[in-house]
Amino acid sequence: MLKFSAPCIFGLEGLCANEFKFLGLKNVEAHNGKVTFEGDFSDMAKANINSRYAERIQILLAEFEATSFDELFEGVKAVEWESFIGVNDAFPVKGRCLSSKLMSVPDCQKIIKKAVVTRLSEKYMLPWLEESGALHQIQFLIMNDKVSVMLDTSGAGLHKRGYRAESNDAPIKETLAAAMVDLSRVRGNHFVVDPMCGSGTILIEAALKAMKIAPGINRYFAAEKWSCVPSEVWSEQREIAKSNEVRDCAFHAEGYDIDELALEVAKKNAKLAGVADKITFAKRDIKDFELNDGFVTVITNPPYGERLLDVKSAEELYKVMGEKFKRAQGKSYTIITPDDDFEKIFGRKADKRRKLYNGTLKCQLYMYFK
Ligand SMILES: C[S@@+](CC[C@H](N)C(=O)[O-])C[C@H]1O[C@@H](n2cnc3c(N)ncnc32)[C@H](O)[C@@H]1O
Repeated sequence: MLKFSAPCIFGLEGLCANEFKFLGLKNVEAHNGKVTFEGDFSDMAKANINSRYAERIQILLAEFEATSFDELFEGVKAVEWESFIGVNDAFPVKGRCLSSKLMSVPDCQKIIKKAVVTRLSEKYMLPWLEESGALHQIQFLIMNDKVSVMLDTSGAGLHKRGYRAESNDAPIKETLAAAMVDLSRVRGNHFVVDPMCGSGTILIEAALKAMKIAPGINRYFAAEKWSCVPSEVWSEQREIAKSNEVRDCAFHAEGYDIDELALEVAKKNAKLAGVADKITFAKRDIKDFELNDGFVTVITNPPYGERLLDVKSAEELYKVMGEKFKRAQGKSYTIITPDDDFEKIFGRKADKRRKLYNGTLKCQLYMYFK
């Protein structure tokens, strides 16, 4: 049995833990900024392929106290590295030190590297390790003198689904977009609209969720190259994920933007994600937004005035949104913004609010469904 650690965006720990439980993973626990679980290599592949909210899946190899380099060295050397890292494999080290006696990242990096090299040289009876093989990224965190040592299994961050070939100026992270979709309770028969869709991330994530398409189905993971992981583990989990897809659901989405280039990118991305037939994109100013009849779920990430427009113009847009996003039966609206005055400018108090981070920017998710 292995222990895994899955870092996630602050605020998404609960969502990520529920997702893991739903996937059948064992001993799932939510912590600050990460979720842990236990399992085998199949569970590792399952989490990598299916998680919509985790940033990566790491094997948590050791947790111990260390206030000296000697303790750090011995703690790291005690890990059974040879069970994961083959004789020719590469194992770079990176990490962070926070509120601890050992605060120099480069020094800790060197000590950890030396400990792993010493252990593997002894086990493989080689004075020199070539490190020309599969990448085994070692990651460490030293916080309050407690060391956590992890091995990354994902490679590129899990927000990289493989469909975003291009992006516009201010794309939202896929993991965050997926969370907005989940919190807006999008289902397989929903009609979803993003009136400021940019490169289409929110709508693509909504379509993937509605069609039960695993976000990592078409991408590669670092541990696929590891000799300790049987290749069937990946093919079996991909097959299971494929068999769960619901391609013929009634889900439909519309995306609008004033930027034609962004719309072109959105169309390309939707095609790459395999959901192009579920989403219609068109050029339209939010000023011309019209609500369709029946159930409509609006989810949007408007300009914040930080990167795209100045704050005043962004706030003008919030005012327009307040006029257009009318309170009515069957209509719900989810908006993410860091602007603390949003509700005042929009004109209504949200029915629910939730703190979330868009990169390092503290935002609120404003949800209107009554
Ligand atoms: C923060 S970006 C959205 C990014 C998008 N979520 C993505 O993942 O690419 C805001 C978008 O609002 C669009 N926008 C700005 N003013 C607009 C308006 N008046 N009507 C419609 N779209 C507008 C911009 O062109 C931009 O693409």
